Amino acid sequence: MCGIIGIIASQGNIVDELYRGLKLLEYRGYDSAGMAVVRDGELLIIKDKGMIEEIHRRYNFLSLEGSVGIAHTRWATHGAPDKVNAHPHTDCTETIAVVHNGIIENYLELKEELMKSGHVFRSRTDTEVVPHLIEEYMRSGLPFKDAFIKAVRRLRGAYAIAAISANSPDKIMCARAESPLVLGIGNGRGYCSSDIPSLVAFTDSVLPLGEGEYAVITPDSVSIRRISDDSPVRRRFKKVSMSVEEAKKEGYPHYMLKEIHEQPYTIKYALELQRNYLDLMSSFIDRASRLFFVAAGTSYHAGMVGSYVFSKLARVVGFPVIASEFVSHYGESVSVDDAVLAISQSGETRDVLWAVEYAKARGATVLAIVNVLASTLTRIARVYLHQQSGPEIGVAATKTYTGQLASLYLLALTLARNRGKLGQDELDHFLQELYRTPGVVREVLGQVEEDTKRVAKLLKDARYVIFLGRGVNTATAHEGRLKLMEISYIPSLSYPAGENKHGPISLVEKGVPVVALVQDDETKKYMLSNIHEVRTRGAKTIVISSSGDEEVSEVADILIEVPRVDPLFTPITYVVPLQLIAYYTAVLRGLDPDKPRNLAKSVTVI
Ligand code: F6R
Repeated sequence: MCGIIGIIASQGNIVDELYRGLKLLEYRGYDSAGMAVVRDGELLIIKDKGMIEEIHRRYNFLSLEGSVGIAHTRWATHGAPDKVNAHPHTDCTETIAVVHNGIIENYLELKEELMKSGHVFRSRTDTEVVPHLIEEYMRSGLPFKDAFIKAVRRLRGAYAIAAISANSPDKIMCARAESPLVLGIGNGRGYCSSDIPSLVAFTDSVLPLGEGEYAVITPDSVSIRRISDDSPVRRRFKKVSMSVEEAKKEGYPHYMLKEIHEQPYTIKYALELQRNYLDLMSSFIDRASRLFFVAAGTSYHAGMVGSYVFSKLARVVGFPVIASEFVSHYGESVSVDDAVLAISQSGETRDVLWAVEYAKARGATVLAIVNVLASTLTRIARVYLHQQSGPEIGVAATKTYTGQLASLYLLALTLARNRGKLGQDELDHFLQELYRTPGVVREVLGQVEEDTKRVAKLLKDARYVIFLGRGVNTATAHEGRLKLMEISYIPSLSYPAGENKHGPISLVEKGVPVVALVQDDETKKYMLSNIHEVRTRGAKTIVISSSGDEEVSEVADILIEVPRVDPLFTPITYVVPLQLIAYYTAVLRGLDPDKPRNLAKSVTVI
């Protein structure tokens, strides 16, 4: 996720507004930033790595001057967070500047084509193809506007783009597919931006650009058309009256709910991991004699799922280990033959860093899955995968958990293919199912909201809650328990359901809520009998299962059905209702789910 903004005025200097707007977008990414303005027919650019404020101290954005400009704050996806990869990107003549949020899927083929026509690329980003494409069409005689539209029609993937040209300083061109873009107008200025909050500081007249649309922005007008056929779109500007803080949540009452709803996109982004890094990591794992998944909290649960799927798909045994336990549990035996796959959203969790520094010192290969690029973990790891979930503001991990899972599944399938452990049909089937998960999560979000609110009513006054899972969803039960406990403060217990009769069933009495996860695999019949066990002892059973399973509906007091995927991938789809249950329970208890007491987003102490 990145933030983009563009401002055009009929006269005067827009740089101060551009700078203030950019700062409001910083939550969307902060590893590099930049700004381009047109002055006297020339494009002027300041960009570098680092946070906006640092770059400003280094170069002073306000030293620029112009009445049309664009700016960007970056959360790196393609290419490291450094100066050349920072936006805006320009064409060969350095007269066209582009900022972009999203991922252009076909950039490699476009880049190859443009290089053959003589274009020289400076960065490793997907974005840089856009100014070169516009330049290419302008070379053939098209004006900036038409060249922009023609270029955008060639793009596949997700994008919100704004472009300016030193030769046409009377307009900003912008377009969107999947990534958000909002337009604004007022005070003799036209605006575009990734979100409403960065605009409400300047104007109260805003209008979201629709999917597959482009706009020509001038100081006093905005004209919108469809990218595909150029047909005009008529949509009125709306008056917004909200504070910047309210607007940042994009209409959701809390960041946590917003982030839960972002998952169809963030899972998709994680599935765009680059093949060469997956192959590289898979070869390190294949060569290791032992594999450890090392992580804390929610990320540890992702490691547990990883352990199941690596075994099932790639026949690789990996031990999930709580990071703070790693050194005392395995320290003496760690050697050069081992691989440690650290999973950490922040890449700064002290326990994780302690474990990997220790393992590295003993010669083990350190690998990582992270969300924050340029974090300490990325510097320690020999290879890391960037899950691309964007910044997570809610303290409780939600979208970053499913992003970790998607990355692990992709790695497991790469490993299975490279080790020759799956036949072509099996591989195709699993890949197809994995790539269906973003769409299925979208359906889940559309279907389960009311059911989860009903469950929250049941849980809100519970003394304690029990979560049961088996097989690949044992970790999902743990994750559901952690989410509920950390934001609603209801004591909760989770365990593999097979453990029931070895102790915990003594806690079951009339009315105790038991949340059980049932996937349609070899564990199902055992899970059903575990649910019977607790139900006959008076438990209220809340069962999450795949749609159309009659046996399950017989044992459920409340049944939450989610659309089917291969049972192996249900950890991605089943955790979504659990996140919503935790969220709504906290809200019903009058708590702020974004800021649970005593917790911090990044735990940098031991
Ligand atoms: C729970 C949660 C924490 C983190 C844990 C590890 O919702 O967010 O349990 O998962 O502190 O953090 P990272 O992944 O940054 O290492």
